[in-house]
Amino acid sequence: MAEPRTEASPGKRAGVALAATGALCLAVAALAGDAAYPWLKAGHVIAVISWMAGMLYLPRLFIYHCGAAPGSETSETFKVMEQRLLRVIINPAMVVTWALGLWLAWRGGHFSAGWLHAKLALVLALSGVHGFFSAAVRRFAEDRNTLTARQWRIWNEVPTVLMIGIVLLVVVKPF
Ligand code: HEM
Repeated sequence: MAEPRTEASPGKRAGVALAATGALCLAVAALAGDAAYPWLKAGHVIAVISWMAGMLYLPRLFIYHCGAAPGSETSETFKVMEQRLLRVIINPAMVVTWALGLWLAWRGGHFSAGWLHAKLALVLALSGVHGFFSAAVRRFAEDRNTLTARQWRIWNEVPTVLMIGIVLLVVVKPF
């Protein structure tokens, strides 16, 4: 009897694409020397977009999850969506963003620049929010969430505000 065909989910495909982008960037860095800089900057921006997409969508899922009764089919569906989004997109995207960002800072000689210090402070804050969201995914999975939908709405804005500051610092480089 023929085995049923299992299609990779869109989340898994996106995760594979992100891992391939990271691997490609490392290969470019190893092979292309100075010419690698703009290519790896492009890889950094692709990873940033993926990280931010997840960081903006995850708290939105938490808001809807708050309205689902624990144990209901809807609540169980949200748990799967949250865990997949975190594992397949958000976590790998953060690793690629950090790896390429630090490489750009080293290769471009930016480590003494004031804008980079300020940017790193905001990126560390963003990484802290990432850790907090990651813990929330575990709490939702065990039906132990304590925040209200309104509180999650406020948390939903935090990555946006940090992202605006980070992009202004790296593009405008005001100091
Ligand atoms: C994780 C630590 C990070 C480090 C160490 C880092 C560092 C860097 C460096 C050194 C550049 C190249 C700047 C240049 O060539 O002028 C860069 C580019 C960029 N970064 Fe990051 N970055 C990090 C995370 C982020 C995050 C979280 C975001 C957005 C939320 C971001 C957004 C950008 C953008 C948009 C560019 C392109 C800027 C341009 O070409 O004008 N970075 N980053």
